[in-house]
Amino acid sequence: MKLLMGTIAAAAVMLTTQAYAAGKVDMAAGQALAQKSGCMACHKPAGKLVGPGFKEVAAKYKGDKKAEDMLIDKVTKGGKGVWGTIPMPPNAAVKPADMKTLVEWILAH
Ligand code: HEC
Repeated sequence: MKLLMGTIAAAAVMLTTQAYAAGKVDMAAGQALAQKSGCMACHKPAGKLVGPGFKEVAAKYKGDKKAEDMLIDKVTKGGKGVWGTIPMPPNAAVKPADMKTLVEWILAH
């Protein structure tokens, strides 16, 4: 019984630590992932390149709770018409978990 309680306590600590980590965006890891995923060929931290700067994207969707899911879907499938006439091609090779990290990183700019 003592052992079981100890195991439950340890699991609870692990869960809390994970939730805490998930709430914070690691800016350096996001940058590395964006470079690895090819996003930086068309995007800059701020200012238009081929696509909009990430600061501008973050400002546009500030306070919009639905933005994260919408952007994960849009960046994966590609799309156009929000920032101009140039379309973004699909980025379907990026893993869903990585795409979530990327979008959270962009919105944290
Ligand atoms: C070939 C160029 C290109 C690449 C590569 C690219 N993008 Fe884009 N991105 C664009 C363009 C162009 C737009 C503007 C689309 C529009 O006007 O709707 C855009 C828009 C966006 C937006 C805003 C979408 C909206 O509806 O407001 C996000 C977020 C984004 N890109 C993230 C990414 C991420 C993350 C990656 C890497 C996985 C990436 N982009 C790779 C060209 C690119």
